Amino acid sequence: MLEHLARKWSRKEKNSAPEELDRSGKIPKHVAVIMDGNGRWANMRNLPRVAGHRAGMKTVKDVVKAADEIGVRYMTMYAFSTENWKRPRDEVDFLMKLPQEFLSTELDELIERNVRIRMLGSKDELPSHTLNALLTAEEKTRENSGLQLNFALNYGGRDEIVKAFSTLAQQVKAGVLDPQDLDEELISRYLYTSDIPDPDLLIRTSGEIRLSNFMLWQLAYTEMWFTDVLWPDFSREHFYQAIVEYQGRARRYGAV
Ligand code: IPE
Ligand code: IPE
Ligand code: MG
Repeated sequence: MLEHLARKWSRKEKNSAPEELDRSGKIPKHVAVIMDGNGRWANMRNLPRVAGHRAGMKTVKDVVKAADEIGVRYMTMYAFSTENWKRPRDEVDFLMKLPQEFLSTELDELIERNVRIRMLGSKDELPSHTLNALLTAEEKTRENSGLQLNFALNYGGRDEIVKAFSTLAQQVKAGVLDPQDLDEELISRYLYTSDIPDPDLLIRTSGEIRLSNFMLWQLAYTEMWFTDVLWPDFSREHFYQAIVEYQGRARRYGAV
């Protein structure tokens, strides 16, 4: 299937999606991505793990463009989990520098594309240089009305729910909220994604079939697509393959 798409691709001009992709049909509004396999990609080349993270930045750029070109409205990229602090200090330091590096080369083009940038995650533990780079990008793109690019950084699905419940509990205690007011809609409004629709499609690379604490609440009815391809090797062809498969799925939400 993929070889077929790739061949078709090379025959056509570079920037168009494959023929199978129904541009007028079901384009997922929100695609969430667990970008995994950078370390293994580097290991296979006898490179340090961080070389894989650097290579993965190019994939982010390519995939965001590919998504924008077919009209995806929201992309959420899992860049650093609340559990990734357990990694060696050098690797964590490197990962914390990547947002600045990415934005210093890409922000202008993203602004030209009318992309709006957001950070999802806990800001408290981030080094100030990382946080500032993201807040500046958020600020500069606040009014943009094109694709919204969310970076999930220091993000944990359980941490997000704990924080929401903590705020809700405080408001109940203060008498601002009544326990009877609690419903799914209200809880959703207390998550990082309060103003973002749930993902329609989740992509995870590198062959791992798990969520690793990503968007636990929001993925309730998301279509999932897994590939063995490592994130630095992932390309727009793979992305469009995921979209084509998504277009063939029947979403029932529990109905018949
Ligand atoms: C994903 O690649 C990037 C982050 C989690 C930051 P990994 O670094 O997890 O790569 P593998 O899974 O070890 O190959
Ligand atoms: C998930 O990948 C986190 C990100 C992609 C940022 P991990 O590599 O950290 O996940 P596990 O440890 O394999 O579950
Ligand atoms: Mg991994």
